[in-house]
Amino acid sequence: MSKRRIFVTSALPYANGAIHLGHLVEYIQTDIWVRFQRMQGHEVHYCCADDTHGTAIMLRAEQAGITPEALIARVLKEHQRDFAGFHIEFDNYYTTHSEETRKLSEAFYRKLKAARLMEVRPVEQLFDPLKQMFLPDRFIKGDCPKCGAKDQYGDSCEECGATYSPTDLKNPYSVVSGAKPVRKSSDHHFFKLSDRKCREFLEKWTQENEHLQREAKNKIREWFDQGLNDWDISRDAPYFGFEIPDAPGKYFYVWLDAPIGYFGSFRNLADRKKVDYDAYTRDGAKTEMIHFIGKDILYFHALFWPAMLKFSGHRTPSHLYVHGFLTVDGEKMSKSRGTFITAGSYLEQGLDPEWLRYYYAAKLGPTMEDIDLSLDDFVARVNSDLVGKYVNIVSRCAAILTKQFGGKLSSEVFARDNTSRPYTMIAYGSENVIRESLDAREYGKAIREIMRVCDLINQRIDRDRPWDLAKDASKCDYLHDMVSDCINAFRIITYYLAPVLPKTADNVAALLSLDTPLRWADLPKAIDRISPYKHLMTRIEPRRMRALIDANKETLQPAPQSHSPQRHAHHEEHAVETVAANTITIDDFNKVDLRIARIVNAEPVEGADKLLRLTLDLGGETKTMLAGIKPAYDPEKLKGRLTVVVANIAPRKMKFGVSEGMVLAASGEGPGFYLLSPDSGAQPGMRVK
Ligand code: MSP
Ligand code: ZN
Repeated sequence: MSKRRIFVTSALPYANGAIHLGHLVEYIQTDIWVRFQRMQGHEVHYCCADDTHGTAIMLRAEQAGITPEALIARVLKEHQRDFAGFHIEFDNYYTTHSEETRKLSEAFYRKLKAARLMEVRPVEQLFDPLKQMFLPDRFIKGDCPKCGAKDQYGDSCEECGATYSPTDLKNPYSVVSGAKPVRKSSDHHFFKLSDRKCREFLEKWTQENEHLQREAKNKIREWFDQGLNDWDISRDAPYFGFEIPDAPGKYFYVWLDAPIGYFGSFRNLADRKKVDYDAYTRDGAKTEMIHFIGKDILYFHALFWPAMLKFSGHRTPSHLYVHGFLTVDGEKMSKSRGTFITAGSYLEQGLDPEWLRYYYAAKLGPTMEDIDLSLDDFVARVNSDLVGKYVNIVSRCAAILTKQFGGKLSSEVFARDNTSRPYTMIAYGSENVIRESLDAREYGKAIREIMRVCDLINQRIDRDRPWDLAKDASKCDYLHDMVSDCINAFRIITYYLAPVLPKTADNVAALLSLDTPLRWADLPKAIDRISPYKHLMTRIEPRRMRALIDANKETLQPAPQSHSPQRHAHHEEHAVETVAANTITIDDFNKVDLRIARIVNAEPVEGADKLLRLTLDLGGETKTMLAGIKPAYDPEKLKGRLTVVVANIAPRKMKFGVSEGMVLAASGEGPGFYLLSPDSGAQPGMRVK
């Protein structure tokens, strides 16, 4: 078999959020495949990076009062820590905000321009006159043009499902500043995907070969039928990204430099590790290039990216391996249900990352079908398969070997051929199926086969009854051969599982003094001793999954109020007095129900010169509050903006009416009140804690 040379990538996660269990479907899937190919002796370069550009990251940094560079540096560290925690071993985990990616983006652009695939034309878009910036669809909200639902995004309505353009929204407002957007025209750079040579190339590339799974091909055919549109690859300043070389004030849209970031990461690796960059990236390269991606980003990878590569003189991908989405207990991950589980929280709870790697492997296939993490099934599966079947084999034989034979294995057994060592024979019998399934990303099939092997071996141990043989001195040699054969079968199964359970495989390698890194070619090798056996894996207790869910839950219901309003108010005052110079416990803090609220209406209160009456939307619930901020704010300007309120303060009857909560504002020595605002993305009703 000839040595494959493969450049592998996983999609570059956005630098504006934490890695969660949905992401991990992809990174675990890729990592298993990469580890498997390495075990086969192939040369693999696995690269990834944070996807760092765009409006969202720019605004998030601004609101946190830091530079985008500082924000992405912090997130990069978190992402690297999470991936390492799940044993995902990149050869390079880089950032798209790099000189390599900048240079490459400029080079791609120049080549595409020279190929006459770039065009400049004016586009009219919504512009925030306060913030002086064009607004991406997700940063405009308003009433749905179809059903009238309030607070819908600029591209689609979550109530009725209608899709539209942001200019169709009624009463639009900027999510960034609350201002009413205006239409404004500016020049944009387009990649001419509709150009005949592009379309012809793509129809052929996507349909006439094995680059894509069948379902992906079908999806793409639908896109062709709808007609390909040119692709707007520029954004106006202010933007966090790379400026277009010959167009000051224009930046490459994040999705232009993101896939180029695959090359940027590889370039950086190649320079450091003396890998032949060109051999993997130039047109006509004899090596392989494989991208693992989720189905939501197929359009970018199956149309834009191959066309960009083709017409800039690069090689095109050998394969796109597209996977489906993760659901938890059959539903979309949800923050309020606690099923939007971050990688960090899983590790913090002390759960074993290999449990998840195993579960995903057991569920993954080569298709774009979604995969479900069923929490009960997760516990049952890991406990019964890994602990009850796989680890059980070694734990049943290791002690006998150590106690009766000083840890020495019978050399007799390794002198025989497979047919006269029944345990080894069972394990070997499935080698072909398992190897081929792992190579074809049919992990679920491989795991089923591996567990079938474990079952057969355990049944045979039950029949041989080594614990009884150990009582009969005349059976000593037979027993020695039997447990040695059995441990050898366990060793072979460990190789099969090594891409999925790298840490456990390392522990087994230490236990059996195996050569590392483990290589498939070493399967027939003999072993001669076993070190004293230590626990390889523990069972999951169901309560730990419940704790994980609780740790990820964002409560939406206000804390129940057991006190009568008066007493409660009194209690609060008292608490403030006694605690002021002190620290408070987290429980004290949790009593304060801080919520994000949208100011839907603001009006002066007749007869009061400092008060405004605010109508606040707390995510479904509406409350009226009186706030002494009239000297500082024009009520008109407050409408639509988000702020923070105390939602569970007992209603207070004031001279001018009842206030159902407290709006928070900062103030100092001098005059002036300053309302708080959350980072963009926060929604009315979200809890602040
Ligand atoms: N930044 C882009 C990718 C650029 S690649 C040149 C992006 N980032 S992402 O963070 O949203 O997603 C990264 C990968 O994780 C994508 O392949 C995406 O499909 C995958 N997943 C994100 N959520 C997922 C699930 N809930 N389930 C399975 N995969 C998911 O897209
Ligand atoms: Zn609607």
